[in-house]
Amino acid sequence: MAKTVVITNQKGGVGKTTTASAIVSGLAIRGFRVLGVDLDPQGNFGFCLGADIETSPTVYDLMKGTMKADNIIQHLDGGVDIIPSNILLSSAEHEFSMLGRETLLKRGLAAVTEKYEYIIIDTPPALNILTANAYTAADNLIILMMPEILSVLGISQLRETIDLVKSIYNPKMEVLGILLNKYDNRRRLTQDVEDMAWDIADKLQTKVFNTKIRSSITAAEAPAHGESIFKYAPRSNAARDYNVFIDELISEKGMILNGEEKQQN
Ligand SMILES: Nc1ncnc2c1ncn2[C@@H]1O[C@H](COP(=O)(O)OP(=O)(O)OP(=O)(O)O)[C@@H](O)[C@H]1O
Ligand SMILES: [Mg+2]
Repeated sequence: MAKTVVITNQKGGVGKTTTASAIVSGLAIRGFRVLGVDLDPQGNFGFCLGADIETSPTVYDLMKGTMKADNIIQHLDGGVDIIPSNILLSSAEHEFSMLGRETLLKRGLAAVTEKYEYIIIDTPPALNILTANAYTAADNLIILMMPEILSVLGISQLRETIDLVKSIYNPKMEVLGILLNKYDNRRRLTQDVEDMAWDIADKLQTKVFNTKIRSSITAAEAPAHGESIFKYAPRSNAARDYNVFIDELISEKGMILNGEEKQQN
C-alpha cells in the first residue's frame, strides 16, 4: 500500500507545486515507485514535470469515474508517474454534488495504491471539494508556508477542514508538519519566523520540519524547462535543500513502508 502525502495550503504561491515536483522526482531518483496526482485545475504539477495536460485524460476523468487510473497515468522521464490535471477540473465544485463526493479521488486511486510506494498529491490554493478529496485520500499532510506571509490568519479554517475530514472520512490522517519555503537564513528575523511557525504548528497539533527550503532562483526556473530541480540544477541550494527534506520526510514514522512492501522491491 502506498503512503499518500498531500501538499497543502489554501494560500496561493507558497510553493506547493514546486515542492510536490521536487518530492516525486527525488523519490524516483531514490528508486521508489512514485505517483504524482495533480488536483489543481491550474495543471502546473503535471506540466512542470513535462506531462501532456492538453489532450490526455486527467484526474477529472478519474473522479468522474469514466476512466481507470491505469489508463490516465503518464510515465515520465526520470521514473515519475503522474495523473495530470487541467482547467476542466474547475467544474468539480458544482458537478460533483452527489453523496460521498469527498471520496471520489480515493476510490479512483484504490486500483493503483498497491503499485506504488508513495503517492504525492498537489492541491489548489483553496479549501473546497478538491482539497477535501485530497485529505480523504491522504495518510499525511504537509503544510507549505512562506515566512513572508506566515500568519495565523486562515489557520482556523484549515484546522476546521482537517478536523471535518478526519471526523467523517479519514480518521487516520495526520498532519506531518509545516515546511517553510523561500526561507532566507541570513535574515535577522530567523528566530521570529521559527517562533511564528511553531505557534501555527501548535494550533494544528503538528511540528515544523527541521529542513527549510531556501529561496533560490533555480527553483523558480526549473518548471519552465519541464525538468525537475534535480535534473535542471542538481547543485543548486534548492536541490540540496529538497534532498535533505526528502530524507527527513521518509524517515518520519508515518512514512515508513512496511516490510512486506520492501521485500517486493
Ligand atoms: N524556494 C523557492 N525559491 C524561489 N522561488 C520559489 C521557491 N519555491 C517556489 N518558488 C516560486 O514561487 C512561485 C510559486 O510557487 P508554486 O507554484 O510552487 O506555488 P503554489 O503554492 O503551488 O502556488 P498555487 O497556490 O498558485 O498553486 C513560482 O514562481 C515558483 O517558481
Ligand atoms: Mg500550485
